[in-house]
Amino acid sequence: MTTLAILGYGNIGRVHGENLRLLRGCRVSGVYDPAHPSDYVSAEAVMNDSAVDAVVIATPTDSHALLVEQALAAGKHVFVEKPLAGTLADAERIVAAARACPDRVVQAGFCERFNVNYMEARRAVREGKLGDLRAIHTSRVAPYWASNPQWELGVLDTAVHNLDLILWLKQQCPVKVLARGVQVYSDSAIPHSVTTTLTFADGSLAVDHIAWLKDEGFPLNQCARSRMLLQGSEGYFEIDLTDRPAALRTEEGYRKIDSVILGEGCLKRQFEYFLRSIEEGTPVLAPPEDALLTERVAIAALESLRSGQEVSLA
Ligand SMILES: NC(=O)c1ccc[n+]([C@@H]2O[C@H](COP(=O)([O-])OP(=O)(O)OC[C@H]3O[C@@H](n4cnc5c(N)ncnc54)[C@H](O)[C@@H]3O)[C@@H](O)[C@H]2O)c1
Repeated sequence: MTTLAILGYGNIGRVHGENLRLLRGCRVSGVYDPAHPSDYVSAEAVMNDSAVDAVVIATPTDSHALLVEQALAAGKHVFVEKPLAGTLADAERIVAAARACPDRVVQAGFCERFNVNYMEARRAVREGKLGDLRAIHTSRVAPYWASNPQWELGVLDTAVHNLDLILWLKQQCPVKVLARGVQVYSDSAIPHSVTTTLTFADGSLAVDHIAWLKDEGFPLNQCARSRMLLQGSEGYFEIDLTDRPAALRTEEGYRKIDSVILGEGCLKRQFEYFLRSIEEGTPVLAPPEDALLTERVAIAALESLRSGQEVSLA
């Protein structure tokens, strides 16, 4: 029985609380959030509670690094929301802290890695079913009403899910990153629609598009309506988490794959994996080192968005 405490009880902290309460083999000892009625009086009180085995950090991105360091110093396992941090330096601090505690499990909140559709896509790529993976197209729409409009929002909050999936599938970092964005709404001077192009060393490409939509009827559990098309020399893999089932087309034929929309599957499944890593020592599927690579690419995209220039990562 693993005991977890939740730090940050906003949008996603509450979802994590609901999902964890549905899982067997764990219990939630309580939450701490200065803006909400809490079981703990401070983050320090959570760290000092010897009954707590693991801490779920669902606080604003800029607070992740310090809380991860404190939790690891207190001997806790750590689940930390994506993106790892707001800056590359903070993301590096998290990886350094995790490396210094190799017997503690540290998992980043890249929940899409636990989405069965993307897991199938990864399996197809790893098994060579698509041949040479030459092009990846991803897209994602998120509800503008649920957001706190900051300049980094589109990339660090939303595109980062797709950038992580792309790196996970390619198993390599791009050599160049070019991002373009446009302000769509007049009430915040940020890019509301952003396209990021990643160029890999072998010339293959990945293009991601994110859009923030003004739509109050947009359910939060579909805050990431997403699509992905993988084009390989021997086949393609298409995922559409908006309304159609995912589909795999290879030389072996056409296969439909059940869709699992974010919020209904992967947000819970990521904790099943996290608990298994704690209890059985299974490898972490979203390790902080991977999240650091994603951070590097996302920060490069932000730099490109600001400067208008392509950023070289080679
Ligand atoms: N995986 C996903 O799909 C997903 C979805 C939404 C948000 N997120 C990530 O989760 C994090 C939180 O996002 P959100 O939308 O829930 O934000 P939010 O603003 O709704 O909630 C954050 C909460 O943390 C609290 N808080 C601030 N500092 C704290 C501290 N030191 N200790 C404890 N609580 C503290 C705030 O009072 C607030 O209630 C962000 O990093 C975001 O990128 C991930």
